[in-house]
Amino acid sequence: MASTHAVPLMKSEILRAYASKTPGSRVLHERAAALLSNGVTHIGRFLLPHPVYVERAAGSRKWDTDGNEYVDYFGGHGALLLGHNHPAVVEAVSAQMPKGVHFGASHELEVEWAELIHELVPSAERIRFTISGTEATHLGLRVARAFSGKRKIVRFSGHFHGWHDHVCFPVGGAPGIIPGIVEDTLILPPDDAEGVEGLLASRDDIAAVILEPTGATFGQIPMGGEALRRLRDATARHGVLLMFDEVICGFRCSTGGAQGFYGVKPDLTSLAKIVAGGYPGAALVGRADVMRMLDYRQAGDDIQPPPVLHQGTFNAGPISAAAGIATLRQVRDTDAVERAKRTGAAIRDGMNAVLRRRGLGWCVYGEFSDFHIYCGDATAEDIYAGRVPWNKLKGGISPRLLHKMRTGFLLHGVDIIGWPGGVVSAVHTEEDVRRTVDAFDATLEMLAAEGEC
Ligand SMILES: Cc1ncc(COP(=O)(O)O)c(C=O)c1O
Repeated sequence: MASTHAVPLMKSEILRAYASKTPGSRVLHERAAALLSNGVTHIGRFLLPHPVYVERAAGSRKWDTDGNEYVDYFGGHGALLLGHNHPAVVEAVSAQMPKGVHFGASHELEVEWAELIHELVPSAERIRFTISGTEATHLGLRVARAFSGKRKIVRFSGHFHGWHDHVCFPVGGAPGIIPGIVEDTLILPPDDAEGVEGLLASRDDIAAVILEPTGATFGQIPMGGEALRRLRDATARHGVLLMFDEVICGFRCSTGGAQGFYGVKPDLTSLAKIVAGGYPGAALVGRADVMRMLDYRQAGDDIQPPPVLHQGTFNAGPISAAAGIATLRQVRDTDAVERAKRTGAAIRDGMNAVLRRRGLGWCVYGEFSDFHIYCGDATAEDIYAGRVPWNKLKGGISPRLLHKMRTGFLLHGVDIIGWPGGVVSAVHTEEDVRRTVDAFDATLEMLAAEGEC
């Protein structure tokens, strides 16, 4: 990774140049810091000396308060497969807005939205809408425990499932998490298929295994179809529910998500981001018998409440439903998913060519509409062959290098996610790819000057 003799962050020319390009963001951040924790509203947006404050966005680009233009790879945290303000989504939302944004009642759009999800996602026999991906994984684990009558959940280090109490702590727990939840959560390394099989064979108190089917953080720690198939076999053999968290990979790996791509059918799936077209919306979907935990029980006049209670003021709001329908129609009827994947591959190829030309042993990898920058000595082949430890792939980069890389990209007109990497939309252009590759080259030049590579 980066040299220990590198220029300290607060003396970095990259950060200084970024700060002088973004004075408007600095002013806004000073106001924000007086009130908002860390001056931000999502820890992924934390950035020194200050984050960029965006004023507007369109297609693959966004513009900050100083008028600087960026090629955007945050993509609404992955929600914007169709880019910012896709005409079909804008039209659907604009048409719905004057008709009402909250009926406090059932409506046709939620039915149509559910029908589209059922059509696209292989395992979606029944559907329950939530607001966020966090809520969808939370509900899924509760449903799994209720259906199975078992307490333990298995999940994998590095896999991200949102921030509710069952999924947001490492091995050993974290401040604020109730010890009972920690005890009932078995966290395994993400690259040990035998270990999972052994665990499932050795206990009878496991309700479900939850995972990102691409591997952690949309494939940052890759997993592969073979591991998924083994896990499907082992969970089925031992009567354990398998839950895919497709919050980010849903409608990206294929029109049917990772389960469509790999041909592996989970019992439960969480969906968010693309499913609601950039608006707040998510869903838990899955096997009809399991999802019946959410249903009222009726026998004549005797009506019993659902075993699993789930409410939510904004569930399936008409605006989110309209945006979701418009987006999923594009997913179904156009080549948006494949286009974004092709552009992802072009970005990875271009960035890897830069690394080779510079004689740098890092690599840029990914399989779908994504890219992950690995700042250590390894090739993509090494990574996919499992030759790089998972905790180097995720979280292995120093905060100093990460800040310099993100501000370096911003300085050169590109906004990446702090994996480091990004998600690619169907509307990123060849020109965007060129700009991105050039920005990477220019950023590496500055990083080299500061002893980072
Ligand atoms: C795989 C995965 N699961 C769950 C979540 C949480 O979703 P949300 O931010 O909508 O709560 C995310 C968000 O990035 C995610 O990528």
